[in-house]
Amino acid sequence: MSAPVPDLADRADACAQRLRSADRVLLASHIDADGLTSAGVATTALERAGIPVETVFKKQLDAAEIGSIAACEHDTVLFTDFGSGQLDVISEHVAAGDFEALVADHHQPADPEDCHPDVVSDSDGYADFAWHLNPLLEGINGASELSGAGAAYVLARALEPEGGDNRDLAALAVVGAVGDMQAVGGELVGANAGIVDEGVAAAILEEGTDLSLYGKQTRPLPKLLEYATEVPIPGISGDQAGATRFLQDLGLDLKRDGEWRTWADLTDDERQTIASALVKRAVQRGVPADKIDTLVGTTYTLTAEPTGTELRDASEFSTLLNATARYERADVGLAVCLGDREGPLERARSLLANHRRNLSEGLDLVKRQGVTQAGSVQWFDAGDEIRETIVGIVAGMALGTDGVDADKPILAFASTGEGETKVSSRATGPLVGRGVDLSVVMHEASQAVGGDGGGHDIAAGATIPEGEEEAFVEAADAIIAAQLGA
Ligand code: C5P
Ligand code: C5P
Ligand code: ZN
Repeated sequence: MSAPVPDLADRADACAQRLRSADRVLLASHIDADGLTSAGVATTALERAGIPVETVFKKQLDAAEIGSIAACEHDTVLFTDFGSGQLDVISEHVAAGDFEALVADHHQPADPEDCHPDVVSDSDGYADFAWHLNPLLEGINGASELSGAGAAYVLARALEPEGGDNRDLAALAVVGAVGDMQAVGGELVGANAGIVDEGVAAAILEEGTDLSLYGKQTRPLPKLLEYATEVPIPGISGDQAGATRFLQDLGLDLKRDGEWRTWADLTDDERQTIASALVKRAVQRGVPADKIDTLVGTTYTLTAEPTGTELRDASEFSTLLNATARYERADVGLAVCLGDREGPLERARSLLANHRRNLSEGLDLVKRQGVTQAGSVQWFDAGDEIRETIVGIVAGMALGTDGVDADKPILAFASTGEGETKVSSRATGPLVGRGVDLSVVMHEASQAVGGDGGGHDIAAGATIPEGEEEAFVEAADAIIAAQLGA
């Protein structure tokens, strides 16, 4: 079968060949939806290829964590959804003979000059080595065209045993890409779109145009509309009575056995009626046209999953996964990815309720506290009020809400509780278009204050010593100003 991402085929083949010669593999992955789905894809592919695999998850890959991986005494370590940015440290371990490394990632690779020269070469300023599967090395955008799970999927296809077919794993790869917010204007593009096509061909994925609100599978209709704050519609969003009245006025039969139906329960005609009325209301109430456009987007449905469950919708699935691994329960999320539908799914659902509450309380905190403007950047410090593992999600949600300038990158601080401060940063497509690259900002500003960081142009993070927040803002502001040519 043809390769899903032709430009990466050689790299994937090299990695697959190396893995086939391993007795067993230690797989290390990141604790978010993309990291979990990366691990789900890679674990399944390795097992199907008859290669025993053990999986570990890390909040952030740093020297200490890589040291603990080296101490596991595995000869072969596969890193997914991180590793490229840490090739400096990884290459030292490889050179020392601690383990052989393979990396399937989409983050900005380390500076080759910081890496061990026997292991790492320079590929257009990016660190590269023998088993390195990263879209950026082939001119593919790592923030919008391929995720960690996508890279793992490319590897999985190269790992197929004789007569095997790993295209069913495209569903998880799409959940990873959606979870990493890779959809551009609501739609997966580039290499991601190629993976969608393979999932559709394998009959496990459906691509459709639908209302782009979160919760179409699981939320009762009034809640679907009330909680839809991505595009605030006056009189409906954040207004339980208003949302209910709006639905009742449409004259549809929206309850079954006294219970509100969900979007997934409706017929196409019923959906059309509600969607049209919603758009009409938005126009009447003066919602800007570009906002109204985002009410409708591309949706990705996992057709093998039961209707009315989080697992059927790629966006809901990814949030469910974030609710596990970002709360130290990656085991639960991985089990769900691997098809375990009993205990783990129930556990994931209760974690999801907690995650939702935390996100909403986090957003409230930002609203209450406000953000501080600092030239080319704005920031807030959540202290220990928001978990460091979700402060980036909150920052992304806050960008563009009332009181937060959509035209400036946002920085968010949260305490790690261990004498360090986690920083998350988020930008927008237009800002990146104008030259903003937060992976550079996070890397350089953190190094300037004795920390470390990296990521993508549009979203990146760092860890810095406690007390260095002000100096960090100053450094980040200067770099962003320079990137914008201000
Ligand atoms: O570590 P990883 O690459 O998996 O995480 C990517 C992060 O970048 C996610 O938290 C995602 O929400 C964020 N992101 C974003 N906007 C984009 C692309 C990514 O906020 N357009
Ligand atoms: O943690 P947060 O969601 O803000 O991370 C945004 C992006 O930056 C993710 O892709 C994450 O993997 C990356 N990151 C990094 N190094 C760090 C912190 C975050 O590469 N120290
Ligand atoms: Zn990722």
